[in-house]
Amino acid sequence: MTAQITPLIAGNWKMNGTTASLGEVQKLAGLLTQGGGPRCTVVICPPATLLERLNELAASSGIVTGGQDCHPAPSGAHTGDISAQMLADAGAQYVIVGHSERRTDHHETDDLVQLKALAVHSAGLVPIICVGETEDQRDAGDALSVVAAQLAGSLPDDWTGHEIVIAYEPVWAIGTGRTPTPAEIAEMHDAIRADLETRFGERGAATRILYGGSMKPSNASQILRIGNVNGGLVGGASLLANDFHAIISAV
Ligand code: 13P
Repeated sequence: MTAQITPLIAGNWKMNGTTASLGEVQKLAGLLTQGGGPRCTVVICPPATLLERLNELAASSGIVTGGQDCHPAPSGAHTGDISAQMLADAGAQYVIVGHSERRTDHHETDDLVQLKALAVHSAGLVPIICVGETEDQRDAGDALSVVAAQLAGSLPDDWTGHEIVIAYEPVWAIGTGRTPTPAEIAEMHDAIRADLETRFGERGAATRILYGGSMKPSNASQILRIGNVNGGLVGGASLLANDFHAIISAV
C-alpha cells in the first residue's frame, strides 16, 4: 500500500440486509472497539433503509456509512430513486457510483456515472467510483484500455475542493471466488495511479484506489500489500462481522 494514504475498507451490502443484520454491525463495532478502533477508514454501505439505524449503532466505533447509488438530480419526479442529498441527510459520508451491477442491470454509462459523482460532491459526500473489465475483455487483452476509458468518462474533470475514491473491480471476480493474480492487480492499480497523476497531478497521487472482487479474510493481506492498493471494496465478506473484521485487521 502507499504509505502516506490512509487506507479505506468499504463493505457493499448490495441488496442484502434487514433489521436482523444490524446484529452483525453491533458485533463488528464491539470487535473494533475492543481492538482500540480501526487503523483505517471503515465504511459500510447498507441498503438505504438501514442507513440511519446503522449510523446510530456504529458511529461510536469509528464506522461511517455510505450509499450504494444515487440519482444525479437533488430531488424531483423520479419514483423509486434516491438522491445524494437524501443519503447525506440519513448520515452517509460516501456513495458508491458506477458499480458494475448498476452498469449492467441499469445500463449506466460513463457519462451518467460522472453526473452521479458530481451530484455526490454537490451533497458534500465522497463518491466511490467503480471501474472494471469483464472476463471477455481481459481475455482479449483489453483490460487496461477498458478501465482507462471508464476512468476517462466517469471521472469529473473538476473536483477541486472535493475527494474521490476509485474502486477497481474486475467484473469476473465479483462474487465468484476468483481474483486476479497479485501481478495483474499491481499492473492495473499502477496504471490507474499513473492515469490519475497525469490528469490530476498531486490530487491524483493522493487518491485512494480500492480493489474489489472476492476479497476475503484468506486473501486480504496479500492483496492489501500490493503497491497502489489503498484498501478494498468488499461484497459478500462484509455481511459477516468476523469476516469483515478480519479484512479490516489485515490493513
Ligand atoms: P464480492 O466481494 O462479493 O465479490 O463483491 C465485490 C463487490 O462487488 C463489491 O462492490
